[in-house]
Amino acid sequence: MIQYSDSKDFDPQLLLALFDQADWAQGRAVEDIQRMLAETDVTISAWDGTKLVGFGRVLTDYVFRASIWDVIVDMLYQDQDIGKGLVQRILTHSSLARVDLFWLCTRRYQGFYASLGFSDKEQTGMVWDRRKHPPPSSASS
Ligand SMILES: CC(C)(COP(=O)(O)OP(=O)(O)OC[C@H]1O[C@@H](n2cnc3c(N)ncnc32)[C@H](O)[C@@H]1OP(=O)(O)O)[C@@H](O)C(=O)NCCC(=O)NCCS
Repeated sequence: MIQYSDSKDFDPQLLLALFDQADWAQGRAVEDIQRMLAETDVTISAWDGTKLVGFGRVLTDYVFRASIWDVIVDMLYQDQDIGKGLVQRILTHSSLARVDLFWLCTRRYQGFYASLGFSDKEQTGMVWDRRKHPPPSSASS
């Protein structure tokens, strides 16, 4: 039986193993994952006993906007409604009840998110990737 938790109090090494299954998250350092967990507003994790089998997280102002990041389910546990369980627990999390708009980026899983009510018709996103740019000259303030 899968259990869900919004506690961040778990070994970041477990998340490292999960992230290593996805090309967009491979090679992350455990210290960076530890800091990411500490600085993230809401996390939801899915557990099969002591095994971390799913994860998703939210950055938010708790009122107007929230962005959803790093939704992932262990490949041995996919197609068992765990991804859906993670996203539904994000959308219904009590601390996010006032948020108007949830935003996410996905390259391959539009169908998954569409089944949960997300639309790609109304907004488009743009991204600036530090790894693809030389350091910009610092802006004067
Ligand atoms: C995307 C992902 C999180 C989905 O998790 P999952 O646990 O396998 O999905 P679920 O079993 O909860 O599926 C929920 C619903 O979405 C549908 N669905 C799942 N993957 C889908 C896909 N690729 N395209 C269309 N629909 C999909 C399911 O059929 C199901 O529909 P239903 O409720 O009508 O039966 C999982 O496949 C994953 O971790 N992928 C690798 C990591 C990744 O790249 N994540 C994307 C981050 S943007």
